[in-house]
Amino acid sequence: MNLNQTKIGVVGATGVVGRELLSILAARGVPPSLLRVAASSEASGSTLSYGNAELILAEASANFVAGLDLVFLCAGADVAQRLAPVARAAGAIVIDNSSAFRADPRVPLWVPGVNDPAWSGESVIANPNCSAILLVRALEPLRAAFGIDSIILSTYQAVSGAGQAGLSALWSQTQARLSQSPEPPSVFPESCAFNVFSHDSEVELDSGVNGEERKIIEETRRIWGTPSLAITPTCLRVPVERAHLESIVVELGMAVSVDQVVLTLSQGGLRIRDDRARNQFPTPRLATGTDDVWVGRIRPDPAVALDGRGCTRRFALLACADQLRVGAALNAVRIAEAIIARGR
Ligand SMILES: NC(=O)c1ccc[n+]([C@@H]2O[C@H](COP(=O)([O-])OP(=O)(O)OC[C@H]3O[C@@H](n4cnc5c(N)ncnc54)[C@H](OP(=O)(O)O)[C@@H]3O)[C@@H](O)[C@H]2O)c1
Repeated sequence: MNLNQTKIGVVGATGVVGRELLSILAARGVPPSLLRVAASSEASGSTLSYGNAELILAEASANFVAGLDLVFLCAGADVAQRLAPVARAAGAIVIDNSSAFRADPRVPLWVPGVNDPAWSGESVIANPNCSAILLVRALEPLRAAFGIDSIILSTYQAVSGAGQAGLSALWSQTQARLSQSPEPPSVFPESCAFNVFSHDSEVELDSGVNGEERKIIEETRRIWGTPSLAITPTCLRVPVERAHLESIVVELGMAVSVDQVVLTLSQGGLRIRDDRARNQFPTPRLATGTDDVWVGRIRPDPAVALDGRGCTRRFALLACADQLRVGAALNAVRIAEAIIARGR
């Protein structure tokens, strides 16, 4: 069976992840006749373009999932909690983009190509957090070749990470700022136009870690099966429409040269943009709309002396990817394709 012979439902089809998912399914040749789409009850009955076809939005209910082979959940965790058991009971494979099941040990948390043994026939699969996917996709070749002892990272996260509402807030606040009108914060606790601020997820009062940072720590450890890996994230929101960037300092399990690091990353399928002479490195604008994980500014940590062979264990680099594709919709589709390829 192929993806384009599978009866597919997309819940949250009008959102930024849902629309990206539909564009990937269209590019994969999934015919509109095999697709059902749903969103909130307010949207029910309205239409959504899919290639040259118009799909009618349904309500996300037991009726909606009945008879489907595969359901992509691209709505919130509350919708996932309600609908995933219903879809599973109806015989569908469920791939959920929300955080509802990511910490559930019975639910695989899967980045195809990174932790493929994670799936052993389960019907509900969790798509990891977008920043965690970027981190493990960027570092997996180094982990596989040299091991990783610790990671310190800062994220520069696009406003569309907070959905369509985040994008709309950036556009309207930018317009207000340019026309010198008042721009009270909305969606985010701070004004997002021409500004950078700490990630808008809730901060744990005791530890000071915010929700996004906690997800990166826990999900990265779970994906790699390294429950005590030292990870220190600081997550920021930046006035960028889409694609997250991460500034990473990684301590490898052994000392290697910068050339070995670059070679290992490029052989691992990463897109290298590392032009020191032109000062050109990965950017969100470049990564937007692509399926690549971009890396660059790859250098030994200047705080640590190189050994006699010009090697060190600590490297700094930038990694960037379109979080709506690589960090969400594309990973979900790759999970579906991997399941189909294994004959389910
Ligand atoms: N944005 C990202 O970068 C990103 C990355 C990874 C994971 N995720 C996760 O992906 C999911 C979708 O995020 P998003 O950014 O696409 O959000 P979004 O743009 O706000 O879209 C939310 C979608 O959910 C639908 N929805 C709302 N209430 C619903 C209900 N009761 N029943 C069915 N559908 C409902 C909305 O429909 P209406 O249009 O009718 O309101 C819309 O289609 C979230 O769980 C998010 O955490 C997002």
